[in-house]
This record gives sequence, structure tokens and C-alpha cells, in this order.
Amino acid sequence: MSALFPTYARWDITVKEANGTTIIDNNGKEYLDFAGGIAVCNLGHCNERVNSAVKEQLDKVWHVSNLFHIEGQEKVAQLLTHHSDGDLVYFCNSGAEANEAAIKLARKHTGKTKMISFKQSFHGRTFASMSATGQDKIHQGYGPLLEEFIYLPFNDEVAVEKTIDETVAAVILEVVQGEGGVIPGENSFINHVAKLCQENGVLLIVDEVQTGIGRTGKPFAYQHYGITPDMITVAKGLGNGFPVGALIGKEELKETFGPGSHGSTFGGNPLAMTAAEAVLETVFEGEFLEEVTEKSQYFMAKLEEQLKGIDVVKEIRGSGLMIGIECTKEVADIMKKLRQQGLIVLNAGPNVVRLLPPLTVTYEELAKVGDMLEVQLKK
Ligand SMILES: Cc1ncc(COP(=O)(O)O)c(C=O)c1O
Repeated sequence: MSALFPTYARWDITVKEANGTTIIDNNGKEYLDFAGGIAVCNLGHCNERVNSAVKEQLDKVWHVSNLFHIEGQEKVAQLLTHHSDGDLVYFCNSGAEANEAAIKLARKHTGKTKMISFKQSFHGRTFASMSATGQDKIHQGYGPLLEEFIYLPFNDEVAVEKTIDETVAAVILEVVQGEGGVIPGENSFINHVAKLCQENGVLLIVDEVQTGIGRTGKPFAYQHYGITPDMITVAKGLGNGFPVGALIGKEELKETFGPGSHGSTFGGNPLAMTAAEAVLETVFEGEFLEEVTEKSQYFMAKLEEQLKGIDVVKEIRGSGLMIGIECTKEVADIMKKLRQQGLIVLNAGPNVVRLLPPLTVTYEELAKVGDMLEVQLKK
């Protein structure tokens, strides 16, 4: 009998080793991994640059508390702020913790508690991030939640216009909803929300935990929309598998997060910073992001060509290498058959197959997966 709490509905696969896009189970079976640890291994499994940086750091220092200056934090914060609209960074260990920090900072800075979030959103499992999440199934059994979150329909400008006023502390949103079904925010909607926030003195928090670190072909997905958030939260791809999260915020928020106001024992430890630095230097270097966009264009065109017209396929959508195939039925069975065929994919809600290949995926792998999906969805 397992001594684990059964919090996860697990697949019947144990991974023995992994490299690039490929994982190998303990029976020697190979899979193409288009889930990447749920948008985490953006540079593929066992990325050479990240691995060797972490190996080198292992023999220097693993952990010191945040009572010390940590050089890696300064370097990673420079990289994150240089490539975003933020000015300052707070490090933590996960996406939920990054959102927790953002929600606390928004409350303390504004002195207000009301916040707007969106239906089908996902922001994490801690109390504040769970309360921000606009999905009943995530809340069940845990009430009463943190008060004063208002869940509005996504992509509905009128709903935001009717609700927002100067009594609201913050709006928290994903510009492409991930867990909720790979639903891209419409350009007019995202821009309108940003404008309404500005007009009403409301902070705008963009949750880039899934969309950030190059996933959509820009450093951060909000940059496709030309908006300027007050806070940006990241995690997942930041460490390529090493647990690390960050809140990036505007200079104006500095005094609110003064000494003793918030903290984390592990947040920003030297090992995590080494992984994050290697990741960011790779993603922001040379033509890396242009290549992500080119691969995405190739893959989307291929999926459109091969899957459009198949009865079960309703819509193909997404941004960069974050792609959803909405089906006319539940996809659990399709996912199982794809695993048997040697392809790992995720769902996003019951009816959407979600594809999150590593950004280092090859054209050959994309072509192969297009063919595998065609075969399985046609059945
Ligand atoms: C958009 C978004 N925010 C927050 C989270 C929570 O991140 P973590 O599981 O690292 O706490 C997730 C995880 O799926 C996410 O997709």
C-alpha cells in the first residue's frame, strides 16, 4: 500500500530517465513529452547548460538564508526586470507562492481587499491563490475562502467595466488561461482591463506562471498585448524543473514590501538562482524566442491542416508553444491512447487536449506529434 496521500490521479508510468523531449519509463518505453512537467521543462529534460551550472554550484554553496546577500538573486532579478516592465523582484518557490505574495502586496499597498479575478482562471492552491482561482471544483470543502474575490467572465469587457471602481485593490488575470482550457485573452479585452485599472487606480497583476519565460514566443505573454502590469508572477519554466518562483513588481510598490513584511526560508536560494540564471540566459539569448515563434507557426499550420475537419476536433487555439485542441467530447480516453502510442499530453478542462512541448522541441518531433494526433483523433 502506498504511504502517499492520494492527492493526484496518477498515470500508470514511472519515469526512469529523460532527455530533451524524450522520457523513458522503467520498462524502457520511450515517449515524446508534450507536457514538460506541466509547462516546467521549457528547455527540455536534463538541459546541458542548466545541468552543468547546477552541478558546479552544488560544490560551492546550496543554501544560505536571506539574511545574506545572494549574488544569484541580483543577477536573476536583473534578467527578469530587464526583459519585463517590472523594476523589483521577490523570490519564492512556486507559482502559488508568487501569487500569494502579489495578493498580499496588493492588499497592503492599497489598504483595500476587493479583487477581481476571472472564471476558469487558475492561480494556485494556497489559501489566497486558491481564493483567486475562479473554479468551484478547486474551492470545494475549503470554505470560507479569503473574502472579496469577484469572479467575472473572461473576455467580457462589459462585466469588468460594470464592476471595477476605486474600491477594488487589484485585478489578477492570466492573459492566456492555461488550466481553464487554453483560452487566449482577446486583445481588446486585455487592453480594456489594463485601461480600466489605470483609470480607477487598481493594480494589475498578470499571472505568467504558465505563459511566462518564453512559452508564447515573447519573454512574457502580456507583451503581445502592449500593456504594462503592476505585478507579474512567474514560476514553472523559471527553473526548468528546479522549484523557484518570483514576483516582479513596479518601483512604486517598493516601500510596501520593506524588511520583515514578507519572506521565505528557501526563496531565491543559490541553487535555485543558478538554475534560473542558466534558463533565462538561454531563453533571452540570440534568436531563441524568434525560433519559438517560427516553430509555433509551423506546428499550428500543421495541426490546422491535419486536424481540421476531423469530427471530434472543435477548435485549435493557443499562443506560441501553448496549444489547446478543443474536442467535442471528454479527452481522457484520447490522452490514454496517445500515451500508449508514446505521446504525453495534458488536458485543460475535460474537453481540451493541451500541448506544452519544450521550447527546444525539434521540427521532426513536431511533425511526428502532428501525425500521432491525426491518427488518434480520427479513430
Ligand atoms: C497560471 C498558473 N498560476 C499559478 C499556478 C500554480 O503554480 P504552482 O503549482 O507552482 O503553485 C499554476 C499551476 O498550474 C498556473 O498554471
